[in-house]
Amino acid sequence: MPVMTTITRALLLVGVALTAQLCACTAYGGDGFSVEFIHRDSVGSPFHDPSLTAHGRVVKALARSYAHADAPSAHGVVSELTSTPFEYLMALNVGTPPTRLLAIADTGSDLVWLNCSRKGPHGLGPAFAGDAPSPTPPPGVVFDPSKSKTYSPVGCDSGACRELHETVCVDSKCAYFYGYGGGSTTSGLLSTETFTFADDAPAGSRGDRTTRVPDVNFGCGTTFVGSFIGDGLVGLGNTNLSLVAQLGAHASLGRRFSYCLLPYSVNGSSLLNFGARATVTEPGAATTPLIPSRVKSYYTIGLLSVKVGNATYAAPQQSPAVVDSGTTLTFLNKALLDPLKDTLCLAIAPSARSSLIGNIAQQNMHVGYDLDKGTVTFAAADCARSYSAHPPSPAHSHAPATSGSA
Ligand SMILES: *[C@@H]1O[C@H](CO)[C@@H](O)[C@H](O)[C@H]1NC(C)=O
Ligand SMILES: *[C@@H]1O[C@H](CO)[C@@H](O)[C@H](O)[C@H]1NC(C)=O
Ligand SMILES: *[C@@H]1O[C@H](CO)[C@@H](O)[C@H](O)[C@H]1NC(C)=O
Ligand SMILES: *[C@@H]1O[C@H](CO)[C@@H](O)[C@H](O)[C@H]1NC(C)=O
Repeated sequence: MPVMTTITRALLLVGVALTAQLCACTAYGGDGFSVEFIHRDSVGSPFHDPSLTAHGRVVKALARSYAHADAPSAHGVVSELTSTPFEYLMALNVGTPPTRLLAIADTGSDLVWLNCSRKGPHGLGPAFAGDAPSPTPPPGVVFDPSKSKTYSPVGCDSGACRELHETVCVDSKCAYFYGYGGGSTTSGLLSTETFTFADDAPAGSRGDRTTRVPDVNFGCGTTFVGSFIGDGLVGLGNTNLSLVAQLGAHASLGRRFSYCLLPYSVNGSSLLNFGARATVTEPGAATTPLIPSRVKSYYTIGLLSVKVGNATYAAPQQSPAVVDSGTTLTFLNKALLDPLKDTLCLAIAPSARSSLIGNIAQQNMHVGYDLDKGTVTFAAADCARSYSAHPPSPAHSHAPATSGSA
């Protein structure tokens, strides 16, 4: 696994205003909360295929990496990287009373949207919804806003409506259209709801709490194109619309999150952490600033060199690299990859543009994103032991990756 050398920078001291008491229903300890972060193929996922071995899962995930990247050029180089949000799922509870949904968690995009039922006053007329073909419905939960006391559509003049690029005003409500790399789209009404998060960190170490956040902006989706899995999608990207930015605005959590991805061979679920728990404190943690992105919502850092064993390969100039949990493979700019290639067998593919650090390279690392500080922090960690929703018995736990650090 490559060791990414990045510019490390002293942490900026940013005071986080304690604005609101977050949890109305239970004591809120202030160290944040953790929800299950489930790989789509893992045993805990509704999309789990029991016939697949751990190796088979990797092969399928790699195939998806390529399927979502744009068509290769004549030289076999991926010309453009696209966000591929389809690898991890998270649980969230929406509305009052709450409906439990399992949604794609995507670090590469910002809108939160849910599959909403089309009946009721919140639904869009056929003029906007179009005549989308209805494929065979996958097993899933559809959110019905008419059954919730806290649902409200958002007006066209709201800040959230203005943040979205493609909106139309329908009866003074904000109707949105949102697209992903690869051509998938969703549309519906921009709305607000109360989101409730159960704490999935193992009881005993952290305890059982729920965190209630009112007025989260989300897309109540009624039309979809593409092969989405799950009951919706949670954008965790680097803009004001994403769930992490909205949680930070509402509470003492701060605009930060972290995860520690289990290797594919471990039978278990990782955790997605918010609040103080998202601070990466492991020894050897390396922090690097976010740099401007070609796509606004991406988390992009400057890659200076790649180290494999004792050999360091310097980039000709600082090379942007997107940090993304939704893509399996790592893509390296050709200039960086070419000197490495002939020696080595790596889960790395060439790219003509930005590099991308995919989820295999991030396994057994605690990776923290802090929008307030504008940083990403990496540290080697034993994810099965420290950040697993259901820690495996000691006999099955795995040692941390040997060489991964930022
Ligand atoms: C939303 O739910 C409907 C009804 O079950 C289903 O047909 C559709 O595929 C779902 N869409 C998504 C994006 O999950
Ligand atoms: C978020 O909003 C604040 C003020 O409302 C603005 O200063 C900031 O630039 C916005 N950030 C993004 C990423 O849109
Ligand atoms: C994975 O773990 C669960 C319980 O944590 C167990 O029920 C299941 O049989 C395990 N599956 C495999 C393939 O080991
Ligand atoms: C790397 O360098 C160390 C110290 O110089 C040496 O002991 C080790 O064998 C080297 N490893 C490789 C793979 O060359």
